Amino acid sequence: MSEPVTPSPEGVDPESYYALLGGDAGVRALTERFYVHMDTLPEAATIRAMHPKNLTPSVDKLYEFLSGFLGGPPLYWQRRGHPRLRMRHMPFAVDRDAARAWTACMRLALAETELSPLKRTLLEQRFAQVADFMRNQPD
Ligand code: HEM
Repeated sequence: MSEPVTPSPEGVDPESYYALLGGDAGVRALTERFYVHMDTLPEAATIRAMHPKNLTPSVDKLYEFLSGFLGGPPLYWQRRGHPRLRMRHMPFAVDRDAARAWTACMRLALAETELSPLKRTLLEQRFAQVADFMRNQPD
């Protein structure tokens, strides 16, 4: 599993997850729902506690990242530079349970979208891989 590739700034593929989710508003909604689940799911309490009390800046950063990651405008790259995700997660103890909790929040958020079951499953798997890649603790 390698660092996610920097997306092309040109054009948006109509078959991209970004487009299928409804573009900018859809990706924003997905990100907001993800953090609502993190804020409420009991099994996400440990990873919620790693985040600041006010989640708005976290929502902004993840939304910008996901915009590019899902095939839309690479907002994070444009505004903040290369995400260096693994390095940026080093201050947090990301173990298997943390990766599972993150993926569970995203699974719930994806279940509220209009994605087809197949696309949803494929995207869930991709997120699970990236979450796994973020692990920095022995289990
Ligand atoms: C594996 C479990 C994960 C945990 C416990 C975790 C936790 C965190 C925490 C505590 C922050 C700092 C929040 C803030 O600065 O507001 C953060 C930032 C971030 N995370 Fe995660 N994360 C995980 C997985 C992921 C995954 C899978 C992605 C991408 C698909 C991701 C994308 C980001 C981004 C883009 C940021 C903002 C980075 C920055 O600019 O500082 N995270 N994460």
